[in-house]
Amino acid sequence: MKRLGVNIDHVATLRQVRGTVYPDPVAAAAYVEQAGADQVTLHLREDRRHIQDQDLRTLRRIVSTRLNLEMAATETMATIATEVRPDVVTLVPERRQELTTEGGLNMVAGGKRLRTVIESLRAASIPVSAFVEPDPRQIESARELGVDAVELHTGPYALAITAEAVATALRQLQAAARLAASMDLTVCAGHGLHYENTARLVVVLPEVEEYNIGHSIIARAIFVGLEQAVREMRTLLDHPETATPARRT
Ligand code: PXP
Repeated sequence: MKRLGVNIDHVATLRQVRGTVYPDPVAAAAYVEQAGADQVTLHLREDRRHIQDQDLRTLRRIVSTRLNLEMAATETMATIATEVRPDVVTLVPERRQELTTEGGLNMVAGGKRLRTVIESLRAASIPVSAFVEPDPRQIESARELGVDAVELHTGPYALAITAEAVATALRQLQAAARLAASMDLTVCAGHGLHYENTARLVVVLPEVEEYNIGHSIIARAIFVGLEQAVREMRTLLDHPETATPARRT
């Protein structure tokens, strides 16, 4: 069975844009766990535009499945992670102006800073995943830098329009997933996945153990409620060959 990590940042985004105390990402975490998610994923950004430090600390107390903390590869963030002790840290690139994470972390150019952050997390017994492009050089460098897992960036697949572009993106993901698995890395995937494009990936990427999905689930929750939205995605992961995809709206 594939692990489903539900990214709850968008709940905090809605709260932050109005400066209210609701909707509460902590309550959202309880709903998604109740509905069958295996993991709660959140991104504590350096600009704190959605998830706040207190959310992270409260979530650490209440999440009973797994807490996956996405963060920039900086010493400041590593210090926070070491204090809060998520079940896994996923290192992601961060740029202030971006709407969401754009592109994978460059492990090839990562160098000493990245190695120091990875080593400090692993020394604190926190497994480390790196969000990377499905590119063999990135996977090899990630392995060399000592990560436990890679999360393959599925954005290019999600954005591909023509059949040819989709096929190319799928081939790259398949090769990357095989390579990572052959190096004994845990293989995860995410970004841009929704109710119409996820089942296909699950079928063609047997190596992928975990999917992290946020925007589409929170968007669908507007219409059917959060628990139902999570359950529908859970069904797609569990029965990708037969599940009827829900519409994205
Ligand atoms: N995985 C990573 C590493 C991400 O940065 C994000 C976006 O925060 C996601 C998964 C979820 O992407 P989406 O919101 O497009 O499902």
